[in-house]
Amino acid sequence: MPSIEIPDTVGWIRALTQSELVWLESPSHPLLEVADLISICGTPVDRRALVVVDNTFATPLLQKPLEMGADIVIHSATKFIGGHADLVAGVAVTREAEVRDALVRSRMLLGAVPGSIETFLALRGVRTLELRLTRGMDNACELASRLDDHERVKVVYSPGLPFHATHQMAKERMSGFGAVITFEFVGNAGETDDFIDRLGVISSATSLGGVESTIERRARWPGQAHLPPGLVRLSVGCEHIEDLWVDLAGAL
Ligand SMILES: Cc1ncc(COP(=O)(O)O)c(C=O)c1O
Repeated sequence: MPSIEIPDTVGWIRALTQSELVWLESPSHPLLEVADLISICGTPVDRRALVVVDNTFATPLLQKPLEMGADIVIHSATKFIGGHADLVAGVAVTREAEVRDALVRSRMLLGAVPGSIETFLALRGVRTLELRLTRGMDNACELASRLDDHERVKVVYSPGLPFHATHQMAKERMSGFGAVITFEFVGNAGETDDFIDRLGVISSATSLGGVESTIERRARWPGQAHLPPGLVRLSVGCEHIEDLWVDLAGAL
């Protein structure tokens, strides 16, 4: 089955009747679109599929897909849960005993059991999740509005901005807009790479959700060439807002 656009609620509901597993990311990567999980999971249809929601960008604090009817929630604990860019781990959460047993069994057979240092880092990280996320969201909200006013920025994608495609849905389904923003730099691929190279406080890196801000030009990856060459994803960390802005404004 082809991929479905995140705001296409009818398409997702149709997929529930035609597949064994429906996997969606909300907010999505990299345009941060928020799905109508309540309608997708709650519409009475002849549902065959398990619904798996990747909730990494929202974290367990901002969106609760199990309460909206999802069967499994996935988090890359590498990101906000770990929070310090020193962990690779994932979390799958379910309320269904049968699904849990199947997940535990495949984890055992495939050998994907986390080591004690990984579980220690994840548990240590989660203790400060709320503090880090609150600071990152405040910074992200301020940067989104400043970037939106900047002449070298074509468009900003942040669910917190009133003109974002799923702003209303984000307000209804989430208790905050998250600490990731995406924006399009006015320039070609090389000029966008040069902009990123000029940054000093913000590091160029693929991972996200850490205390330190990271940025990446998405179309540099194979399979992402459909995205505009100047589209960058910025994971906003806990630095001082003015340090971040001086860095961004100088590089822009
Ligand atoms: C939304 C989302 N889910 C899952 C993953 C996979 O995470 P990991 O690096 O822990 O394998 C990523 C990685 O970028 C991600 O962005």
